[in-house]
Amino acid sequence: MSAPVPGSPPLLGKVAIIGLGLIGSSFARALREKSLAQVISGSARSAATCALARELGVVDVADVDPAVAVRDADLVLLAMPVAATEAVLRAIRPALKSGVILTDGGSTKGNVVAAARAVFGTLPAGFVPGHPIAGSEQSGVLAGKADLFARHKVILTPLPESDPAAVNIVRQVWQSMGAEVLEMPVDRHDEVLAKTSHLPHLLAFSLVDTLARESENLDIFRYAAGGFRDFTRIAASDPLMWHDIFLGNREAVLKALGHFTEGVSELRAAIEQGDSETLLGIFTRAKVARDHFTHMLAGTAYAKTMKPKNIEFAVQPGGRLAGTFRVPGDKSISHRSIMLGSLAEGVTEVSGFLEGEDALATIQAFRDMGVVIEGPHQGEVRVHGVGLNGLRAAPGAIYCGNSGTSMRLLSGILAAQPFDTVMSGDPSLSKRPMERIAKPLRQMGADIQTTGERGTPPVTVKGGRALKGFHYAMPVASAQVKSGVLLAGLWADGETVVTEPAPTRDHTERMLRGFGYDVQVNGPTVTLRGGGKLRAMKIDVPADISSAAFFMVAASIAEGSDITLEHVGINPTRIGVINILRAMGGDLTVLNEREVGGEPVADIRIRSARLHGINIPEDQVPLAIDEFPALFIAAACAEGRTVLTGAEELRVKESDRIQVMADGLTTLGIRCEVTPDGIIIDGGQLGSGRVVSHGDHRIAMSFSIAALRASGPIEIEDCANVATSFPDFTGLARRAGLNIAVIERV
Ligand code: S3P
Repeated sequence: MSAPVPGSPPLLGKVAIIGLGLIGSSFARALREKSLAQVISGSARSAATCALARELGVVDVADVDPAVAVRDADLVLLAMPVAATEAVLRAIRPALKSGVILTDGGSTKGNVVAAARAVFGTLPAGFVPGHPIAGSEQSGVLAGKADLFARHKVILTPLPESDPAAVNIVRQVWQSMGAEVLEMPVDRHDEVLAKTSHLPHLLAFSLVDTLARESENLDIFRYAAGGFRDFTRIAASDPLMWHDIFLGNREAVLKALGHFTEGVSELRAAIEQGDSETLLGIFTRAKVARDHFTHMLAGTAYAKTMKPKNIEFAVQPGGRLAGTFRVPGDKSISHRSIMLGSLAEGVTEVSGFLEGEDALATIQAFRDMGVVIEGPHQGEVRVHGVGLNGLRAAPGAIYCGNSGTSMRLLSGILAAQPFDTVMSGDPSLSKRPMERIAKPLRQMGADIQTTGERGTPPVTVKGGRALKGFHYAMPVASAQVKSGVLLAGLWADGETVVTEPAPTRDHTERMLRGFGYDVQVNGPTVTLRGGGKLRAMKIDVPADISSAAFFMVAASIAEGSDITLEHVGINPTRIGVINILRAMGGDLTVLNEREVGGEPVADIRIRSARLHGINIPEDQVPLAIDEFPALFIAAACAEGRTVLTGAEELRVKESDRIQVMADGLTTLGIRCEVTPDGIIIDGGQLGSGRVVSHGDHRIAMSFSIAALRASGPIEIEDCANVATSFPDFTGLARRAGLNIAVIERV
């Protein structure tokens, strides 16, 4: 609700506040500041507090007798320690006006409701229990602040007897004070607060008291720096209030304390036994959870690289690219390094890891299944493998975010586990086909279910199935499906054989070999036998050719450009973009070819060139499957016509990449025609305009580089997902010579 219009009558006539401490006096000050009441009446046990509150102008009238304070009040807030509720209600009951709204600010709700029942029998319709989640370690009438509740949560726990109109007024009052109002049942409130508020207070009180009682306490406190201070700030809170809370919420607090004690015992045992695995496991999980929590509170999403959801790019036209750069690590290899590292015996050390959200989703999935994973810190990750039989059930559904690779490869791994798992994803992933992996896994004996007619996520995998190897002739050229089936084959009885209709990326096969697993490749057919072991290894992840592709196209189309991209993975199953650009007249030189951990790598120099349209050979499609959005920009800048066929797979990527690119190109004045399995693009002059990426990272980056040849600025909507594969795209693009700005909309 917005602030009242000046001159309009206040929402409430008389408001009475029982208890003029931090909460009560802040409520009074906020009522005053927002002009929500005609008269503010207060009551406190001490006459001095009443006098001070009047003197400060916090209340208009005050009386030590709460029955006097509530006379004629339209709304009464109980803001004294919760244990006094019954006595106060008994005292004020005869003086309450009929139809009064009665609410409170207590930190426990079950005992407040019980006190009200004891006094009233049948609860009054105006009774709406509440709890502002605001406060500080300070107390008393002087500590109150008019903005204490602004941007804080207030939980209301209306009862079946509560009149919705009364609930609405209480809600409006808190909202007018700037609070966010939530509703939940009484029991749920007490359970949640026991864990998130009461338990931490108990620990802080206990730690400070225990240390203070030690004989050399002065010394201890003298040296107690940041950690102690941060952890124990709340031990300075009001003792009486907390005494009441712990006794009032006894059951839920004891339950939370019991759970916590188990956690501490586990840590104690790990320290006693020098069990670094357990210690690292607890600490890395806690760190991630705490970072996640910080981001949630800051309104950003889970991963540290993730931007607030509503991001736009604004790119100025023109420019040329120069310099030497390294784009982030390969996404496909990063995913696999975590998966195979987790299933190996020993510690796998990864460098060059992509700290994008997709790969982070895979890390989180394996952490959820009990694997200790240190990092990533500047691309370095240490995965403490648990062996092929060491995964544990995740505590809840595994969230794969935007990442199809995580979900499809994990399907194969999960199909062979002894436990059940559910995997879910973001709105884009939730539309993508999952039957393509579920079907072959079912043929191996897996129990796996997708959702809806179109077989999309969530995916439910039942554990405890014995898998049997089989020969799968894949109907679509998909590395994700091939990999998912091969991974399931690690646990299957006998041989698992996959034949692909066209070559797709072979990182899984290469990496399995690196981990010491026997994998036979015979032309289009890959064979492995279940029952082996993976041995930990060191993995140096090359730069992702799919991210490099944007700069290959950018430097090709922007006149006068000359850049070198370092350490790019040039696996033969991924180099379609180089082949296609060269066929279009691109000037790309592959330098310094070498092999790193089983993957070929090179530096690539790209100079601008006059591109011409071509018919893209269909055998290049799987080799450039992720690079087409960028290649379409090259086609738009080329002379003549470019024709793509045999690429219907593009319609089921993070977006329908044929349609979405065609829409954007049309907006920018390029003639193109969509066909069922591809697109026809006539090169021309790119204009200016506003295009929509549909949350697809590669669409957003492609239209960014298009501006190099546009006649005016290009604005791109919905760009937050660029962080899934290329966390600092805009920074690198700017350093390379693109005039790109990031706009965050609220
Ligand atoms: C990937 C395979 C490709 C690719 C995706 C990553 C992988 O998907 O588009 O970005 O890591 O195996 P398909 O296998 O579905 O073609």
